[in-house]
Amino acid sequence: MNILALCGSNRSHSSNHALLEAVRKLLPSGVTWSLFAINSLPFFAPDIQFAKELPPKVEELRQLALNADLILISTPEYAHGIPGILKNALEWLVAEESMQKPVAIIIGSPSGGEYVKQHLTETLKTMDLLPSDDLTIVVKTARHQISESGVVLGSKLRDELTGFAATICQRP
Ligand SMILES: Cc1cc2nc3c(=O)[nH]c(=O)nc-3n(C[C@H](O)[C@H](O)[C@H](O)COP(=O)(O)O)c2cc1C
Repeated sequence: MNILALCGSNRSHSSNHALLEAVRKLLPSGVTWSLFAINSLPFFAPDIQFAKELPPKVEELRQLALNADLILISTPEYAHGIPGILKNALEWLVAEESMQKPVAIIIGSPSGGEYVKQHLTETLKTMDLLPSDDLTIVVKTARHQISESGVVLGSKLRDELTGFAATICQRP
């Protein structure tokens, strides 16, 4: 199974990045994990969206997305919406052909991120991607419960992430 992981935070000590690390550590061997740094992408440019030669980082992201069995996004909420850096990455993935891939979502936001959850789900569905409630979790307190290397300190969160990792491995 190939998983493409995207982090919606550009912060150097991001709790969403730590959440992704924690999930990665809980996956069984045999799962291929690609964390793509979305801060390496140029700004989305509709003029070259369908060009034969794309910027190399855009090409890399598209290939990883095409080869992925599942896309995993962990993101905070910014101003009641999707962080710009993540929306930018998703815009590069708006392709003519339908990808129809499951997308698992971790919302790592202190308020619970109800707005970003709704906006992100709607955006992904519009892109013909397949988010679903059983592949979505909300973590309000990640900053205090996970070390930067992804070691989960709280047993309740560890159980939750263990269940989440098992669920995403059952897809597709
Ligand atoms: C510009 C900005 C806007 C934010 N807006 C929201 C918001 O609307 N709702 C919310 O729950 N948190 C908001 N936050 C707080 C972030 O969700 C919080 O800092 C989160 O832990 C960041 O995740 P990270 O540790 O992965 O960077 C905002 C933070 C920033 C920097």
